[in-house]
Amino acid sequence: MTDLGTFTKPLAYLGLFTLGKAAFSLTRQATNFLLPSTLCKRYNPTKANWALVTGATDGIGFGFSQELCARGFNVILHGRNAEKLERRRRELQALFPAVSVDVLVRDAQNVITDIDDVDSEVRDIIHRNNRTIDSQGDPGRLTVLINNVGGETRPSTLLKEYTFEDVQATISRNATFAIQITRVLAGQLEENAPGLVMNVSSIAAFGLPYISIYSSTKGFVDSFTKSLRAEFAAEGKKVEVIGLRVAEVRTAGYDVESNLFVPEARVLASAGLNRVGCGQEIVWAYFWHWLQGLSFEYLPRWMLMKVAAMKLKAIRSDQEAKAKSS
Ligand SMILES: NC(=O)c1ccc[n+]([C@@H]2O[C@H](COP(=O)([O-])OP(=O)(O)OC[C@H]3O[C@@H](n4cnc5c(N)ncnc54)[C@H](OP(=O)(O)O)[C@@H]3O)[C@@H](O)[C@H]2O)c1
Repeated sequence: MTDLGTFTKPLAYLGLFTLGKAAFSLTRQATNFLLPSTLCKRYNPTKANWALVTGATDGIGFGFSQELCARGFNVILHGRNAEKLERRRRELQALFPAVSVDVLVRDAQNVITDIDDVDSEVRDIIHRNNRTIDSQGDPGRLTVLINNVGGETRPSTLLKEYTFEDVQATISRNATFAIQITRVLAGQLEENAPGLVMNVSSIAAFGLPYISIYSSTKGFVDSFTKSLRAEFAAEGKKVEVIGLRVAEVRTAGYDVESNLFVPEARVLASAGLNRVGCGQEIVWAYFWHWLQGLSFEYLPRWMLMKVAAMKLKAIRSDQEAKAKSS
């Protein structure tokens, strides 16, 4: 008969190892929120460099643009609506006269081959502004790309309720556009190294019900982040790629009450920029979102999916009630 006692010690050592591993992982993740950001020192030491933010006319994208200007970057705002872009450009320019703000118009839902012109358009924008703002100093260059554009325009929708066009638009806005614009600007970022690509992801990347298409695109974005980061490293290119995981944020696209767990867009954007240099490939932007995210690592999935389904069903009922009353 087997002596059960012989398993006791190895099991205890394994338990200790597991505990140590979990403690190390938690401590490592917590230190992400204590490390100083390397954003300005590494990517804008001369205060002449440029960042491009996609989906910059509202929400988190506008928050990123405000924060980047405040931190001394010249900023190219990307959006689909030329008038709204110009309004936002003037607003930022008035608030931050020491930097330059310019615009790039493209519809992220409808990517066509003119995306290839973005490389030369960005070079032209920078060249034009360099002539006026920095005649004797260091010429500015594009060093930061923030792939922020995205979102779900039909939250809490069953897959079968989507039309062909809805599916294509959601995938394009959240995934295709990020890949295409990064492809087109990768050479410029390599030339201007060190460079940074920040991809905005979501808690939905864990795979949530009732937002299956949006969830899938965010999983796609996370894989893109990891692959591209590894590819630049393997090629010896100094372009850092970071995936920024985000939970609920009060924005134009997600108009809820803000609180400690649901920050305002600019607070989230600032937190995201503060994570630059932490060394992680995918990182939570905001401390209180990280705490929520820990449940996905440590609680059973079936339990989380019950909670998620309840929340998304409540959003659905709310939308149906609003639609009936209007
Ligand atoms: N808010 C949240 O709770 C939350 C949570 C997790 C992750 N995220 C992620 O954070 C990012 C930003 O979300 P948000 O809530 O800040 O969004 P938002 O408030 O809806 O703003 C989206 C921005 O993208 C622009 N945009 C939308 N569709 C576009 C298109 N087809 N072409 C060009 N520009 C377009 C919008 O421009 P217009 O003004 O023209 O519409 C706006 O500037 C997204 O990637 C989203 O998935 C958000």
